[in-house]
Amino acid sequence: MHCRLRPIVKSLVSAGVIMFALGATAGFAAAPNPCAPAARSGANPCAAKNPCAAGDKVDPKRVTRPKGYKPFKADRATLVKQGEALWKDTKLSTNGMSCNTCHVNNAAFAPTFAKPYPHMVAMAKEKGGVKQVHLDEMVQFCMIVPMAAKPLKWESRELAALTAYTGRLQNKFKPNPCAAKNPCAAKNPCAAKNPCAAKK
Ligand code: HEC
Repeated sequence: MHCRLRPIVKSLVSAGVIMFALGATAGFAAAPNPCAPAARSGANPCAAKNPCAAGDKVDPKRVTRPKGYKPFKADRATLVKQGEALWKDTKLSTNGMSCNTCHVNNAAFAPTFAKPYPHMVAMAKEKGGVKQVHLDEMVQFCMIVPMAAKPLKWESRELAALTAYTGRLQNKFKPNPCAAKNPCAAKNPCAAKNPCAAKK
């Protein structure tokens, strides 16, 4: 008897939970939802807790160089300098992060970063089905996925500067032999290196 009742109790409980969840969602929809505007534009600030795991796929068109693309040109040293400032600028994101938050001391860079571009990057492949990316395309990818922001204008000084600075980091980058030895870490770089996940 006792045992027979259990499933019923269980289903009642879970029905209650579902009703509660539905009620909560409905309530949220009516109340101003801080996540809604960005969610509509494709970026999800709620994903900030684990930005890499953010479910949404990325439309490859948003991260692919446009036709006839002419990157902004300027003196390389100036671009690198401006890029370094942008690299640490949390205003570029909608979730309080900067590129530096994740990539300080080359953190979160998989061994692929050592290879000349274009090359395969796991995140781009998983989220956008893109087999190979150029460096500026990868900057755009991180703008959209972990930074939960809009991509930069393709021919903007900002994109050229961030690309130049990231290229400088790449020149000095030495893949971490431990990361390479641990295939799991490489397959799921977000889990391993996500500074936000650590706070949980
Ligand atoms: C929340 C953490 C996070 C933030 C913030 C972030 N990234 Fe990343 N980024 C990653 C992770 C994780 C990867 C590794 C993806 C992979 O290898 O699959 C990555 C990969 C990259 C790569 C490609 C490396 C390669 O293997 O070629 C570049 C370039 C890059 N990020 C640049 C940036 C720039 C520029 C910004 C700021 C606009 C930025 N990232 C912000 C997490 C982040």
